[in-house]
Amino acid sequence: TQKAPSVQVYFRHPAEKGKENTFHCYAESFHPPKINITLLKNGIPMENVQQSDLSFKKDWTFERLVYAKVIPDGKAEFACKVEHITLPQPMIYKLDQEY
Ligand SMILES: *[C@@H]1O[C@H](CO)[C@@H](O)[C@H](O)[C@H]1NC(C)=O
Repeated sequence: TQKAPSVQVYFRHPAEKGKENTFHCYAESFHPPKINITLLKNGIPMENVQQSDLSFKKDWTFERLVYAKVIPDGKAEFACKVEHITLPQPMIYKLDQEY
């Protein structure tokens, strides 16, 4: 059975302008394990992106965390693009967080 990912985007620490933080995109509960997760800053793929190993949970769905160090400047828009076979088109999840 295929299952669509459930995705959350968030800063690791309370966001403060000019202060180093980590932008997280966490996808869980998806199957099959093949997934593309791209972090975007102002619509442009970010560099220095790291990711956790793909891990699976008891119900055989998978989870993955993708993250990058960022220094929020108060203007930049952070988002996460997710491609998965269950999604007819890539989904963009915007960070909806005031800072
Ligand atoms: C992930 O990206 C690759 C390269 O662009 C593409 O060939 C593949 O179909 C993508 N996978 C998914 C699950 O969308």
